[in-house]
Amino acid sequence: MSSRRHLLFAAGGALLVSPALALAERLLTPRQTLGPFYPDQLLLDRDNDLVRVDGQAAEARGIRVQLHGSILDAGGRPLAGALVEIWQVDANGIYLHSRGGDRQRLDPGFQGYGRFTTAADGRYRFRTIRPVPYPGRTPHIHLAVTLPGIPRFATQCYVHGELLNQRDGLLNAIRDPRLRELLVVPFVPVSGQSDEQIARFDVVLGITPSF
Ligand SMILES: [Fe+2]
Repeated sequence: MSSRRHLLFAAGGALLVSPALALAERLLTPRQTLGPFYPDQLLLDRDNDLVRVDGQAAEARGIRVQLHGSILDAGGRPLAGALVEIWQVDANGIYLHSRGGDRQRLDPGFQGYGRFTTAADGRYRFRTIRPVPYPGRTPHIHLAVTLPGIPRFATQCYVHGELLNQRDGLLNAIRDPRLRELLVVPFVPVSGQSDEQIARFDVVLGITPSF
């Protein structure tokens, strides 16, 4: 609904901040590949609860996670109207993609993909599962942000403390440790609940609103 357009003035985590924003500069979230497993077989159910699929009696296998955060511009201002998409493997390491692993092992109770559009507060939230490793990769959740007038921004969210992080090629391709750490967040137990975790992953984009 907004007629607001956005200017892209930095990419790939570079710190190219316009002079007007220099004082409010934040580290920009590093961009990561969309990867080969962005779903090619979307379910009808694409909401922000990936643990429950319409028409399926059983919920997803895996550790429940509340994944939430803010979509911000380089000055820390919330971005409204941002389409946030996430996708990840199920508890068996299978993607919602025709080449994303053995289809016989796909967990029918896991949605594999979800989307949420931010309101004025720039915040998003999903209910999903704690990501698990699959061959060649440490656990991660893919996340993409789409705003009017800019190319889709894709990155990945990693779990603090996972040993495989140390030798994951994609994560460690980010040479600057300060930027790498922006993608690695704690997954901690929800207070009072032993079987559910919460993780906050904020995304800072190198854009500035222009009116
Ligand atoms: Fe992946």
